[in-house]
Amino acid sequence: MKKIVISTGGGDAPGLNAVIYAVTKSAHYRGWEVYGSHGGYKGLLDPDELVRLTPEMVEDITPTGGTILGSTNKGNPFAMPVENLAGEVQLRDVSDRVMQNFTRMGFSCHIAVGGDGSLEIAHRFATEKGMPVIGVPKTIDNDLQATHRTFGCDTAVATATDALDKLHSTAKSHDRVMVVEVMGRDSGWIAINSGISGCADVILIPEIPFNLDSVCNKINDNELHHKHYAIVVVAEGARAKDTEVIHKATEQCAVGRQEVLLGGVGEWVAQQIREKTGKDTRSLVLGHLQRGGSPTTFDRMLALRFGGAAVRLAEQEIFDHMVALAATDIIAVPLAEAIKGRKKVPLDSDKVLTAREIGICLGD
Ligand code: F6P
Repeated sequence: MKKIVISTGGGDAPGLNAVIYAVTKSAHYRGWEVYGSHGGYKGLLDPDELVRLTPEMVEDITPTGGTILGSTNKGNPFAMPVENLAGEVQLRDVSDRVMQNFTRMGFSCHIAVGGDGSLEIAHRFATEKGMPVIGVPKTIDNDLQATHRTFGCDTAVATATDALDKLHSTAKSHDRVMVVEVMGRDSGWIAINSGISGCADVILIPEIPFNLDSVCNKINDNELHHKHYAIVVVAEGARAKDTEVIHKATEQCAVGRQEVLLGGVGEWVAQQIREKTGKDTRSLVLGHLQRGGSPTTFDRMLALRFGGAAVRLAEQEIFDHMVALAATDIIAVPLAEAIKGRKKVPLDSDKVLTAREIGICLGD
């Protein structure tokens, strides 16, 4: 009988509980035991943070948002923040302790559900400590390499699209430009998918540095066509071609234009549009709304399939791999492939082409 441990790392994404459900049930089907590690690796440092997962415990969690295991953004065992006696926080490598506990507790596999950061840590455990690890790709940003999709993104896109749908009527009623900032770090998947689905007039993504004049021309052009309102979707990582704006998520700083950071790039774009076109403009940041709520059917299915596939990999003892979505099937790919830099929207993709061909300005 195998005994496996599952952890969820990084920011939450809708579908995490569906993975936990599928892993628990698929392992139970094989007569294996499953444990959940609370707070990322905390359960492998402190047994109080470890919970035995049974089919009864996970019965109704699939449609729920968040993660029953809690997440962690500060839980890297290779550099764990630990407070010393003087109250100073120092980074300590506790990876050996994690590995010793893993072995002592008799685990035969660790299923690590996470984005690039968590999967990078998992890959280090596999290669440096010999931990049998299987990765499951999670992030609303969809910015992991080697998988067609990550779960969580579809729900985030649905939430953003719903917001855009609602903004059309108020924008139209008041002849306003509504600027909506969406998440995605330095990839534009949420922006381009929701912007196209939500019939935006302008979509600004990090992959295409934008020119404000193009944006304003599009808004002025709307006026010529008797459309007195506009919807502008701005990915949080978008940056202007003619300024040295560096997004907070990647650099935590902005060169030359501090105000971008203070208000967010969406607010800055809104201000610029107001100044350059004279249009009444409002901005909003969708923020963590995009991470919440029940996963869409697509995300649920993907997360459930990923969970099932991860357990099949454990059975076949294929470690240091990540389950991934190919054209139609779940495949195994080396974790190393998954963390080889962030995946961008290809500029020749049909989405970019479609956006242009249906009259959406991409800011270039
Ligand atoms: O990676 C997911 C994500 O939601 C990004 O889109 C966003 O930039 C970031 O996490 C927000 O992180 P936090 O929850 O720490 O504010």
